[in-house]
Amino acid sequence: MKKIAVFASGNGSNFQAIIDVVKSGELTAEISLLVCDQPDAYAIDRANAARIPSFVFKAKEYSSKAEYEQAILSELKRYDVEFIVLAGYMRLVGPTLLGAYQGKIVNIHPSLLPAFPGKDAIGQALAAKAKWSGVTIHYVDEGMDTGPIIVQERVKLEEDETRDSLQHKIQQIEHKLYPEILQMLFTQGDVINDTKARAY
Ligand code: GAR
Repeated sequence: MKKIAVFASGNGSNFQAIIDVVKSGELTAEISLLVCDQPDAYAIDRANAARIPSFVFKAKEYSSKAEYEQAILSELKRYDVEFIVLAGYMRLVGPTLLGAYQGKIVNIHPSLLPAFPGKDAIGQALAAKAKWSGVTIHYVDEGMDTGPIIVQERVKLEEDETRDSLQHKIQQIEHKLYPEILQMLFTQGDVINDTKARAY
């Protein structure tokens, strides 16, 4: 069974979706650790409720990204983590973690990358009056939401679309798609560029 760590910074609804499918057996993985950079994040409560250990850190208390990633790495090794799942982790992953987990870090992002990378992708799509946005799951590299795309699913923006309505639609997709893709990755190996299969 693949031992995974989930990285989150906030609410952790994607983390919860992953906890739920591990419990139900739809995802054959063990969540060994939550890594969180915000001590008051609700994701930590979710970890506690599911009896998943968490490593919580404050970046400010370290002198560099390399230093806090080294601390994360020690925890990952301690729990024999094989694969990293970013789920609302709002930091760029640096060379320390990328080097140790090459090709073994994935991220979910609430837009059709390369459109609207970085923070507040939902707000960016609304501000741009985009007709379509969506969800992207991709491998992580050193860039901001730039790694090879595994899958994308589109969402249509209505004329009266609001932040809440778009976020709701996007998260509904995320909570279903991430577990599904993780299960594919863990059982079938690499699945890159499934975009066509899902576009409509
Ligand atoms: C998710 O929508 C995820 O796609 C996004 O943060 C949200 C976290 O929600 N990630 C990014 O924007 C990464 N650039 P959650 O904490 O409820 O899972």
